[in-house]
Amino acid sequence: MRVSSPRPGPTAAQRWADALSEWAIPEAILAQAEEPPWVLPPALFAADEREIAARAETAATRVARLALGEGGSILDVGCGGGRASLPLQQFARSVTGVDESQEMLANFQAAWGRTPVPHREVLGQWPGQAEELPPSDVVLCHHVVYNVAQIGPFLAALTEHARRLVVVTLPDRHPTSPFNFLWEHFWGLTRPQGPRAELFLEVVGELGIRPQLESELRPHHRGEEVSRPAYLAFARRRLCLPQSREAEVDLALGDSWPLEVPLLHTVSWPGRA
Ligand SMILES: C[S@@+](CC[C@H](N)C(=O)[O-])C[C@H]1O[C@@H](n2cnc3c(N)ncnc32)[C@H](O)[C@@H]1O
Repeated sequence: MRVSSPRPGPTAAQRWADALSEWAIPEAILAQAEEPPWVLPPALFAADEREIAARAETAATRVARLALGEGGSILDVGCGGGRASLPLQQFARSVTGVDESQEMLANFQAAWGRTPVPHREVLGQWPGQAEELPPSDVVLCHHVVYNVAQIGPFLAALTEHARRLVVVTLPDRHPTSPFNFLWEHFWGLTRPQGPRAELFLEVVGELGIRPQLESELRPHHRGEEVSRPAYLAFARRRLCLPQSREAEVDLALGDSWPLEVPLLHTVSWPGRA
């Protein structure tokens, strides 16, 4: 008699991709949008002195600093304006930033240009052509993974590029989920909640990695990084609403801005380069 074994369920990586695909904006809403909703304003991710000082005290900076020891090279993947790497400038012998956005990279270049540390900028998607980069001592990847559907190869490439440590930071829930009440308000649309950091840890485990985890509340910056008008324009674009409705977004948003998930996780593991 043949005994059929139970069909294996989807992998954690597959569940991660499936959960992210649920964030797709319904076609009818997208079709009427005047501007693309997903563009991140570079100013929101620029690294000013206050931001660098606040991040200097985070778990992510602490674990990376330990791995850098007397000094070492840093690769900052999805670097934005350099908020992940700049707090480590005293311990950096060199730094490379990779980002798919030219505007973000320009901010990274300008910020590291104000330090004596040799820096390099690489425009491209990770993993991809950027993967041909040489290994670095420490690889940072902060606030990027919820953007990555093919998470397995992305994380494997981080691991293969780190001689000492990979440091990933992510919020507890999808970073767009604090906007959910606005989608309900303007479009009567219930948005997803997942995936969550818990599933990310499962994905990492699936790759045979036993990471270290540190969790903490996000450093508090109530709207200091960006002006209210710039934030309203960002929120309005994200909600696929026309400029003529910005005053309504202003009312609905009230005092609850910037919309951010407060709990952050730093997940780190040894590199294999
Ligand atoms: C939310 S921002 C975070 C920026 C920065 N790491 C920080 O902590 O402030 C995400 C950044 O990752 C970039 N990005 C997202 N997916 C990427 C990919 N697959 N390859 C390269 N850059 C990516 C975006 O262009 C953006 O600059």
